[in-house]
Amino acid sequence: MPQQLTIALSKGRIFEETLPLLAAAGIVPSEAPENSRKLIIPTNHPNIRLVIVRASDVPTYVQYGAADLGIAGKDVLIEHGGEGLCQPLDLNIAQCRMMVAVQKGFDYAHASQAGKRLRVATKYPSIAAEHFAAKGVHVDIIKLYGSMELAPLVGLSDCIVDLVSTGNTLKANNLEAVEHIANISSRLIVNKAALKTKYALLNPIVETFARAVQS
Ligand code: ADP
Ligand code: PRP
Ligand code: MG
Repeated sequence: MPQQLTIALSKGRIFEETLPLLAAAGIVPSEAPENSRKLIIPTNHPNIRLVIVRASDVPTYVQYGAADLGIAGKDVLIEHGGEGLCQPLDLNIAQCRMMVAVQKGFDYAHASQAGKRLRVATKYPSIAAEHFAAKGVHVDIIKLYGSMELAPLVGLSDCIVDLVSTGNTLKANNLEAVEHIANISSRLIVNKAALKTKYALLNPIVETFARAVQS
């Protein structure tokens, strides 16, 4: 039996931005996840398949070897912790920034003085906790799964820690960014064991992705 390679991707921007990289490696999915309810998508290579999972689940599938490789945002990788994963390449796709944002007019400088407690709503509790701990600001972290921008508007939190790209979502909700935490892009991740046992299959893909990123 030839070795199988399973690639974990999330729908939407990661899938779209990964298509050209896959094409450079001669890998063409048989269908797009947007048009299908299928979670396992074959490719033109009989021994390479894609699995479609939530963005925040990609590292988990790769960590346990259910997928051999995947593509995940640095935000997701920091929250996951990275156990069992190699991160050989920054693909420079899905670029954005992790920011602290508040409702316009909110006195963030005063509210984030040491000694006060700040309520922070976020999908990224580890990143937020580390950021505020480094500043010596005491926080109560409120874990959300989406629509973070709503939280300060309805009094759930004083600020949010979220991703910003164009800034349109902040603007549309009368929020402003007050602190930059990190630049974010997506990385290729590979299961540590698979990197050894499936080296002959994996290495050409990693090398092709590396060349495609540089060009
Ligand atoms: P989710 O359903 O988890 O929100 P997304 O497809 O929106 O999945 O996000 C996947 C990854 O893309 C994130 O982990 C992040 O690294 C990046 N990302 C998220 N939002 C943006 C954005 N507005 N612009 C560019 N990259 C983004
Ligand atoms: C992401 C992020 C912000 C928005 C920022 O949401 O959570 O809300 O993009 O991008 P902008 O600065 O260009 O407006 P996404 O579009 O992924 O929606 P989601 O709530 O489905 O994750
Ligand atoms: Mg999103």
